[in-house]
Amino acid sequence: MTKKLNILLLGSGGRECALAWKLAQSPALNHLYIAPGNAGTAQYGTNVALKPLDFDQVADFCLNNGIDMLIVGSEDPLVAGIADYMAQRLPELQVIGPSKAGAQLEGSKDFAKQFMMKHDIPTAAHLSVTAQNLDEGLRFLEQQQAPYVLKADGLAAGKGVLIINDLDEAKAELRAMLEGKFGNASATVVIEQFLKGIECSVFVVTDGKNYQLLPVAKDYKRIGENDCGLNTGGMGAVSPVSFADEAFMDKVRTRIIERTLAGLQQDGIPYCGFIFFGLMNVDGDPYVIEYNCRMGDPETEVVMPRLKTDLVMLLCAAASGSFQGAQVEIDPRYAVTVMLVSGGYPQSYEKNKVITGLDAATGSILFHAGTKRDDQGQVLTSGGRVLAVTSMGTTKDEALAHSFESISHIAFDKMYYRRDIGFDLK
Ligand code: AMP
Ligand code: GLY
Repeated sequence: MTKKLNILLLGSGGRECALAWKLAQSPALNHLYIAPGNAGTAQYGTNVALKPLDFDQVADFCLNNGIDMLIVGSEDPLVAGIADYMAQRLPELQVIGPSKAGAQLEGSKDFAKQFMMKHDIPTAAHLSVTAQNLDEGLRFLEQQQAPYVLKADGLAAGKGVLIINDLDEAKAELRAMLEGKFGNASATVVIEQFLKGIECSVFVVTDGKNYQLLPVAKDYKRIGENDCGLNTGGMGAVSPVSFADEAFMDKVRTRIIERTLAGLQQDGIPYCGFIFFGLMNVDGDPYVIEYNCRMGDPETEVVMPRLKTDLVMLLCAAASGSFQGAQVEIDPRYAVTVMLVSGGYPQSYEKNKVITGLDAATGSILFHAGTKRDDQGQVLTSGGRVLAVTSMGTTKDEALAHSFESISHIAFDKMYYRRDIGFDLK
């Protein structure tokens, strides 16, 4: 590498903190900026108060600060077309994140379903419904067996999927969604066959043709132990995933990843960045539950610590067309992350609680999610998900034990976490 890179990373969650931690280790990095970032990302670079959806402002910052690479952490700017905007205005800037067309894999469930049907990628049977074919939708529901899966077509901040046991309730929810329960995002609803199995998250870095597999992870979305209670943004994650063995991953590569990349090329959709395949393992066969055009959160908090390869070099290779032959080296140890959340989350909760004990938690990596620093330098809570406590170990239980030891030093008012992350894996 001749020139060290200036990088701007967009986002402010635990995912971005883990990406910043990893990027900061690279000898190929000159300076890292995170926008807007949090109290944790400030350890690895400079936080800047930019709005990721204000493309003009982001582009001006890139120009004025000699930014070579823009990494887009979350889906919103990608679905809104930030990569296309930058390609027009700053053609030299390397953007990690797909074109608006590629981001439709996440931005429209209907688009993703049509793409999968067209390219023979295994997924649940479905029907897309609008106000125009409501009757067909109601009949389709009658033909399915409970539980019924209803998905808002567009982005709905992770809340657009309903899984309902009762047929009449499912019909009522279908109507409510079409009438605007999730605003415009549910003007189209995808009804899906329910797939029974166990989920995992598979990530690749790709230049649109070639790809490298990152460590497979599993996240735990429910607030309560044993996967009970309300859905959250994610209460913890584990990597590796015991059932994602060689035989399963061979199927994932040939039936899902390779067909997806071939489909993108065939459809003329440029894609440079991460693809996150949310998969269901149904009796040993993988099915796509969802695509995301970014890394997962909290999965990134276990994926990055297991990635030995230099992330800056890897992303640079993907963005500069020299990705073929890139290699990824992975730490064989387990990584586990336990999310510390504000009491009451995912419903209403209080913010601005002082967090103590961070310096004493030396056996883990602390990835900040919802934190900020006040004028006196104290770290305060500023969100529902506050801190991801990641540890490594030769077994999952050993890694978990390190996280619990670290957590024993950390405190804030009404802190809550799950003690059973990874409970369903060997
Ligand atoms: P999503 O927002 O697409 O990640 O969906 C939320 C959750 O709903 C997923 O993580 C799955 O647990 C569940 N889910 C979505 N689609 C299906 C399906 N077809 N069958 C079973 N579970 C599903
Ligand atoms: N952990 C799931 C997601 O990031 O969407």
